Amino acid sequence: MQHGGFPTMPREILIVGAGIAGLASAIALSNNLSSIAPSLNISVYDGASEFTTSGGAISLTPVAQRYLDELGILSELNQMGDEAGIEVDAIDLFSVRAGRRLGPLRFTDENGHGYGGYKGRRVLRSALSAAMLAVARRLPNVSVYHGMKLVGGSTTPENVTLKFEDGSTVTGDLVLGCDGVHSATRTKIVDPGNRSEYTGISFIQSMTDTRNLPTPMPFNQTAVHLARHSSLLTSYCDPKQEKLFVAAVVRVSEHLIERYQAISETDLSAQKNMKMSMRYLVRAQFGMSSLPYIREIIDRTEDWMLYPVYQVRQRGKWHADRILLLGDAAHAMPPRDESAAYAVEDAIIFSKLLAQNPDCQLVTLFEEYENLRRGLVNKAFDASRRLWQSDLDKGLFPGQARDLMSSLHLPPDSCVGKCATKPITKTNLPAPTHESFSDLSVYSLTSDLGRSADATNG
Ligand SMILES: Cc1cc2nc3c(=O)[nH]c(=O)nc-3n(C[C@H](O)[C@H](O)[C@H](O)COP(=O)(O)OP(=O)(O)OC[C@H]3O[C@@H](n4cnc5c(N)ncnc54)[C@H](O)[C@@H]3O)c2cc1C
Ligand SMILES: *[C@@H]1O[C@H](CO)[C@@H](O)[C@H](O)[C@H]1NC(C)=O
Ligand SMILES: *[C@@H]1O[C@H](CO)[C@@H](O)[C@H](O)[C@H]1NC(C)=O
Ligand SMILES: *[C@@H]1O[C@H](CO)[C@@H](O)[C@H](O)[C@H]1NC(C)=O
Ligand SMILES: *[C@@H]1O[C@H](CO)[C@@H](O)[C@H](O)[C@H]1NC(C)=O
Ligand SMILES: *[C@@H]1O[C@H](CO)[C@@H](O)[C@H](O)[C@H]1NC(C)=O
Ligand SMILES: *[C@@H]1O[C@H](CO)[C@@H](O)[C@H](O)[C@H]1NC(C)=O
Repeated sequence: MQHGGFPTMPREILIVGAGIAGLASAIALSNNLSSIAPSLNISVYDGASEFTTSGGAISLTPVAQRYLDELGILSELNQMGDEAGIEVDAIDLFSVRAGRRLGPLRFTDENGHGYGGYKGRRVLRSALSAAMLAVARRLPNVSVYHGMKLVGGSTTPENVTLKFEDGSTVTGDLVLGCDGVHSATRTKIVDPGNRSEYTGISFIQSMTDTRNLPTPMPFNQTAVHLARHSSLLTSYCDPKQEKLFVAAVVRVSEHLIERYQAISETDLSAQKNMKMSMRYLVRAQFGMSSLPYIREIIDRTEDWMLYPVYQVRQRGKWHADRILLLGDAAHAMPPRDESAAYAVEDAIIFSKLLAQNPDCQLVTLFEEYENLRRGLVNKAFDASRRLWQSDLDKGLFPGQARDLMSSLHLPPDSCVGKCATKPITKTNLPAPTHESFSDLSVYSLTSDLGRSADATNG
């Protein structure tokens, strides 16, 4: 099997999961290895069917957009018309109770330029997936197979064999476990038993047709409405502003999650009841808003779905023999709108390492990769947890109304809140980095800001 200039270099590459990390890995590896590995064969296996409609819309930060551009995915997305999603210049913040506008959180400078040219984006997960698949399928020696659920496997220092639900097996000399937070690659092979854990936070989300909503909305792209212990995100997903993604970010008990998951897909009346109780939960949190469009959205939106957020325990194993975990499979974190950027970055960094060290043993390469990534991922994880726990930290929020737009919440160079008082410099915003966003996640903007905002309004 092994020929060409680099005898130890993997040729039969198996990727588990055709999500963000999996497809980014296939694309990056093909781009980086095709010229040095003459008989490369990259196969991607996903347990789901190709056309899944659920999942709502994802927020891409400037960092994520920069990486997707590098992989050719952004230009693919941009050719998809209304499906391309919308670019986000700023997120408008409102207080749920008082209805007050709290200010914008900007991704751009005063001339409308983003970080190194990149703004945020809100796009349907299904559209992002279609764009990534289109790019991957055009590449030489990449094949993507759906309906292939990994159920187990075995690994030796020589090769890895994967076993799928349909009984088939496949053997390769490098496996990338990109199968998300509940990764079977992790729980069945790399670190048996290390299951993900529920963070206590869930998204209750749906899509709404804005043509049904009588009251015009005071935002053009994305808004986050802050309540005491939760927030309601509303974002257009298309340039025509007909599709509105709505997500309540709330604390939901594990007990309720278990009940929801126990409902069978064929029990339609139980499904219906559960959707009603989801809507009831959203109404209980946000229905008292003085903003009329919020009440209308809740009244007219159906099919609320529960998406509990899980995390992977920190400092778990990332590799074994010839298997490496990437993306959420390795390090799913409490909710933040930066996670996809980490998944794509994992893929790009590992691919570059492999291309630059084609002579290197995989185990050495994995260790090198871990040295590069572990610290950064731990930092991001700690930052997410801090963001979510900060309402417990009374020291940060001493009870009195404070300047909402404290620099504590903001990435350096962001002009949130500063815009009114201090003109921003003429220089362009720098290229986006994780550091520019590490202390900010739209999803964690809840009680802290909500409390000070509501307190101001008595
Ligand atoms: C409610 C919610 C909202 C979020 N919002 C955002 C956001 O706005 N911005 C952001 O950056 N991040 C967001 N995230 C996080 C983001 O979704 C993940 O970080 C990102 O999807 C990770 O990519 P991944 O490829 O590692 O995993 P995934 O995207 O989960 O992909 C895993 C793939 O593996 C497949 N798979 C799973 N098990 C198997 C198996 N046994 N065999 C074969 N295939 C399998 C799945 O079908 C899937 O295609 C959110 C997460 C949640 C839960
Ligand atoms: C690897 O591929 C990326 C795009 O996927 C490209 O930007 C980069 O220059 C490539 N690096 C090498 C070493 O081939
Ligand atoms: C793709 O696979 C074929 C068949 O194995 C091989 O001949 C070709 O060299 C491969 N191309 C690349 C770029 O790896
Ligand atoms: C590529 O790998 C897949 C899965 O192992 C295999 O079915 C296919 O025959 C391989 N293709 C080539 C050209 O080796
Ligand atoms: C995998 O490696 C083992 C030795 O560890 C070897 O016996 C087996 O033939 C290999 N399988 C394949 C498909 O290459
Ligand atoms: C929305 O966009 C229009 C046209 O670009 C602009 O006039 C209006 O002020 C914007 N509204 C808000 C709330 O940003
Ligand atoms: C899982 O990972 C953690 C590290 O976060 C480790 O302490 C533990 O031993 C691992 N295994 C199991 C079965 O939990």
